[in-house]
Amino acid sequence: MTQPRIIIAIDGHSSCGKSTIAKAVAARFGYVFIDSGAMYRAVTLFALRHNLIENGIVKERELIGLLPEIKIEFRFNSEKQKSDTYLNGENVEDEIRQLPVSQNVSPVATIAEVRAEMVRQQQEMGKNKGIVMDGRDIGTVVFPEAELKLFVTASPEIRAQRRFDELTAKGETVSYDEILQNVLERDHIDSTRETSPLRKAEDALVLDNSNMTREEQLKWVVEKVEEKIH
Ligand code: DC
Repeated sequence: MTQPRIIIAIDGHSSCGKSTIAKAVAARFGYVFIDSGAMYRAVTLFALRHNLIENGIVKERELIGLLPEIKIEFRFNSEKQKSDTYLNGENVEDEIRQLPVSQNVSPVATIAEVRAEMVRQQQEMGKNKGIVMDGRDIGTVVFPEAELKLFVTASPEIRAQRRFDELTAKGETVSYDEILQNVLERDHIDSTRETSPLRKAEDALVLDNSNMTREEQLKWVVEKVEEKIH
């Protein structure tokens, strides 16, 4: 008998390793992995390229008017063994991770019309199930009926330390205190915005990975998935 394919929704704070877990779980079960944050980043890149963001202020009406012209896809890159994000047919995977996008994505992600369009596209991607999607509102708004919902978290200090280690390993000179401030600020913005704030769905399982290795986390999640599909 073939196993049922389910929807796995993974939400949580920034820099707590959601996508690392989501990718590993998707690979383990042969599911599609969707990084919903990449979609908000792609819209932000589009807005920057069309000069619709000035000093952090988004020209909302113009951006909303252009939403029908924004097509976001994920295509598997067999060389890197991961999906890349495409904006209107162009691979923008690297550009959406860079500072100009990171600095401007928060206000873009608060626009209700942008969210409505992204949610519509995300729901379309999940219609055949067999999907792992990570973000902030996946278990609460995008897939409230998901069979498995996880809420991932870790202490701000640990998340800041991980980010610090990551950047230092890349050769960047950064201050731990500044990173910690940034983590706290992003938590505040994500959890207090009016449209779809980050919150735990009532039926989500909490995964506090402050003191867990990647292997321990994967084992924990795999057990939860197996309980659902057996
Ligand atoms: O996870 P990330 O840092 O790539 O997310 C980028 C931004 O998009 C961040 O400001 C949070 C926002 N986001 C959101 O509002 N809803 C989602 N489902 C995913 C991300």
